[in-house]
Amino acid sequence: MVEKARRIALGADHAGHQVKDRIKELLQEKGYEVIDFGAHSEESVDYPDYAKLVAHSVAQAESDRGILVCGTGLGMAIAANKTQGIRAATCNDTYTARMAAEHTDANVLCVGARVVDADHALAIVQEWLKAKFGGGRHQRRIDKITASERPTAVVPSK
Ligand code: RB5
Repeated sequence: MVEKARRIALGADHAGHQVKDRIKELLQEKGYEVIDFGAHSEESVDYPDYAKLVAHSVAQAESDRGILVCGTGLGMAIAANKTQGIRAATCNDTYTARMAAEHTDANVLCVGARVVDADHALAIVQEWLKAKFGGGRHQRRIDKITASERPTAVVPSK
């Protein structure tokens, strides 16, 4: 059982929905509340649609964190990171998942269902959820990322 009730938003495309459903089962067993934004079948869909739903849920504090599953975890992260306040990290191994929490305080985890099998994906999710953000120098670096996403940020010319 988790110490504090946490709500996790889940999303996947057709490539990731089966792994997403396994993640959902695991989270519910562990006492997390889950908001499942789909997809729910093998029918081909566009991952940015699901990345946006999960990213908005986290950015608006409807959910504490988000998990997105596509074929590689790449497109989901690229799409989710377009939402202000989202730090989405593609993690297809447990070390990166731990670092995503400890160093970069990733609030959205992206996994590739064509890269790792379901059991590995579950291990990645658990590693990310149990790791704690380190703060200190990592917070300073995240503050710089946050500052660069403000609408007033100057886009450097070539
Ligand atoms: C879908 O074929 C695939 O492109 C998608 O799941 C994902 O891997 C994109 O990054």
